[in-house]
Amino acid sequence: MQNLVLFGFMGTGKSLISKKMTKILLFERIDMDSVIEEREHKTISEIFAQDGEAYFRQLEHELVKELAQRQDLIISTGGGVVLNRDNVTAFAKTGVCICLNTSPEIIYERVKTNSNRPLLMTENPLQTIKQLLESRKEYYAQVPYQLVTDNKDPEDICAEIMEIYNNHVSFALEE
Ligand code: S3P
Repeated sequence: MQNLVLFGFMGTGKSLISKKMTKILLFERIDMDSVIEEREHKTISEIFAQDGEAYFRQLEHELVKELAQRQDLIISTGGGVVLNRDNVTAFAKTGVCICLNTSPEIIYERVKTNSNRPLLMTENPLQTIKQLLESRKEYYAQVPYQLVTDNKDPEDICAEIMEIYNNHVSFALEE
């Protein structure tokens, strides 16, 4: 079966929703950041600090190419994976790609206590979130399916994802 690939800014709920979706679709779950951390034996913050963001983006791109060749996966991507348009194109060939959209204020509430997001280690993280969201708007818009998560229960979000997934897969079979 086609992969389910979740995109979206940091703190939009990709990890939580992908865990819940695993129980519904019974696919293996892959968290891209975790795979990169395991392979590098470093946290994301350490990779950014010691090797630089460009190196991280390269690792991310290599992993996208690898995962896009597999099937039956639920993939939780890193929030910046969209910055390389080839990543979205590769995932869309073998997977149903859905972008989770959440307002900056809710994102801020979720991420403010977490220190493993180097891009948000600024004096004013809420402002940084707003700026990054604005500058990445068109990149997230490249993801084929869009879903707004504000004020929705995770269960309802999963139900919407399932509907998108099933429609996509049955449409692909008809073609
Ligand atoms: C990033 C998002 C992070 C992680 C890295 C860069 C980004 O993933 O890949 O810190 O550029 O938006 P999450 O979206 O899982 O926090």
